[in-house]
Amino acid sequence: GRRITVRDIAAAKERGEKWPMVTAYDAMTARVFDEAGIPVLLVGDSAAMVVYGHDSTLPVSVDDLMPLTAAVVRGSSRALVVADLPFGSYQASTQQALETAVRFMKEAGAHAVKLEGGRRVLPQVEALVAAGIPVMAHLGLTPQSVNAFGGYRVQGRGQSGDELMADAKDLAAAGAFSVVLECVPADLAERVTASLPIPTIGIGAGPATDAQVLVWQDLMGLTARPAKFVKKYFNLAEEMDHAVRAFADEVTSGAFPTAEHSYR
Ligand code: KIV
Ligand code: NA
Repeated sequence: GRRITVRDIAAAKERGEKWPMVTAYDAMTARVFDEAGIPVLLVGDSAAMVVYGHDSTLPVSVDDLMPLTAAVVRGSSRALVVADLPFGSYQASTQQALETAVRFMKEAGAHAVKLEGGRRVLPQVEALVAAGIPVMAHLGLTPQSVNAFGGYRVQGRGQSGDELMADAKDLAAAGAFSVVLECVPADLAERVTASLPIPTIGIGAGPATDAQVLVWQDLMGLTARPAKFVKKYFNLAEEMDHAVRAFADEVTSGAFPTAEHSYR
């Protein structure tokens, strides 16, 4: 079959259908999620933490994310693959945003890009959309601004909720095909979702958004200290610990390998 497109995403909102998004950073996990029917895979700049071991998303570069994006595209056949534009790769100008996004589309094969921010990135959103590049927006707790926020905290409480609503409406008017709402009060996310013609994708934004996204290492239980909004659907860290200890024990005892795993 064919890939999911932004038109399918728009049609899902009209039908009132909710959908899942997960992150992916390599071909094998992308294949698992793709075959499970996940319609949208995000190559998040969260790779800074979960792949590269940094403690924020700020240090990761375009060159760091390009090969991961290409791997996710190669590993999937049905999902729409969204490439996150890293910190410093789109803020300077519309030209910078265009050059970065074009690299992700041309060289890595991404089908859409994501960038963080509200009205301050409207010129970038408009320029990408004009160039035929689908743009996913991202509001609320935008991790690339962690230093401005003074930490990872809920955004959009009180009056800043009106600001977020205005940002969301302007992003939709500028042609964004969807918007991530991260760590915002559930009632605000519900109002934004009802007010926008494009789908909202929640993470720590309550149950009313059109879609939900989680970082795969969080939902699989690989992350050491996940945020409150994470639900663990598996205990991968524990399962891997057991498995690698069993391997280690069998190597030291000589129980592995036997004839079954040997050539004659
Ligand atoms: O980088 C990322 O994983 C993200 C999602 C959490 C939305 O931006
Ligand atoms: Na991100």
